[in-house]
Amino acid sequence: MGYLSHLECTACGATYSANELHTVCTACGKVLFPRYDLERAKSAVSRAAIAGRAPTMWRYHELMPVSDPGHIVTLGEGMTPLLPLPRLAQRLGLRQVWVKEEGLNPTGSFKARGLSAAVSKAKELGARAAALPSAGNAASAAAAYCARAGLDCYIVMPADAPHTNKAECDVYGARAYLIRGLINDAGKVIREGSREHGWFDMSTLKEPYRVEGKKTLGYELAEQLGWSLPDVVIYPTGGGTGIVGMWKAFAEMEALGWIGPHRPRMVIVQAAGCAPMIRAYRAGTDHAEPWERAETIAAGLRVPVAIGDYLILGAVRESGGDAYTVTDDEILASMRELAAAEGLFACPEGAATYGALKAMVRDGKIGPAERVVLFNTGAGLKYVDLLRPELPIVDADHPIAAARGR
Ligand SMILES: Cc1ncc(COP(=O)(O)O)c(C=O)c1O
Ligand SMILES: [Zn+2]
Repeated sequence: MGYLSHLECTACGATYSANELHTVCTACGKVLFPRYDLERAKSAVSRAAIAGRAPTMWRYHELMPVSDPGHIVTLGEGMTPLLPLPRLAQRLGLRQVWVKEEGLNPTGSFKARGLSAAVSKAKELGARAAALPSAGNAASAAAAYCARAGLDCYIVMPADAPHTNKAECDVYGARAYLIRGLINDAGKVIREGSREHGWFDMSTLKEPYRVEGKKTLGYELAEQLGWSLPDVVIYPTGGGTGIVGMWKAFAEMEALGWIGPHRPRMVIVQAAGCAPMIRAYRAGTDHAEPWERAETIAAGLRVPVAIGDYLILGAVRESGGDAYTVTDDEILASMRELAAAEGLFACPEGAATYGALKAMVRDGKIGPAERVVLFNTGAGLKYVDLLRPELPIVDADHPIAAARGR
């Protein structure tokens, strides 16, 4: 096991040892990527060998950063289903639309992937305490994986983060704090705490291995589509680690000879009330200015700044992708449509991708035969407080007068 070779700065190219804990590039402050000896990995593992392995993201372990399999901290994350949406596709005049259903991960979101990878590697390198700011779901996942690894876990999240996330941090025994502010304010507290107390800072993309967990989204997509990639990927973007990870995975898989040069158009979606990446995309820059007064019901998209802005925007532009915003009302309507038409209770972030798909079809941006994959990044069950079910009351002595249709 283990073809990890070194860490490399995505901006200035500086290299670092993968045998010690690192956060960002000390030369320029930008994001570090793990690099592998892909030539050696190519002769060690094949697509056929992977097919017979256990259905977790660790089936790609040759392309993952942990050297000793005994250090893997797992709760069974990954290999989530890729579900077709036949009814909604037909409604939109499309033939092939799928959803990657990430709500089935441990802790109910795709954050499990990143935190499984990061906590495993931190444990392997001897960290005792991890710390991170979170919009909510990363906190839940960090709390769970740190509990499983036996690491202390320090978390700061917005005071109005979803109730489920707070309850999860509490039950997993994390040292969680709330801040009157957003994830970037929480980040400041974590940075100071890490300096003061020696916690290992696991902020997304400031820690080099969460992206390795997220990149398995890209490996799975290819494997589940018979080692091909779709034409369009629509992804709800906060810190952007998923899109950045998938883009990295595609390049790795091509170097391994597992896929060809075809790439999906990578489409990012943000909430109308917090859309720094969409604004930067439209302005043609590769740096996104912080979004003021960020507000949306999609807690995971309430991310006013992202250290990986240049990587996100790079993937969107290189792929010939696009950038869309959706309003909170559109998100709620999309949640209801996905649930009622396809039996899929998406989180608001995931539902936003369906809202964007409708807008793209309206704008003529997707051909009828194109293969489209939406990412539902979390379980709708974590967000029941967003819904106001008004169910009629019946009594036992009276039959229901008329059956209600859909
Ligand atoms: C459910 C959900 N979807 C999407 C996101 C955004 O993810 P990323 O930071 O990879 O862009 C988050 C982040 O908190 C989330 O919780
Ligand atoms: Zn650098």
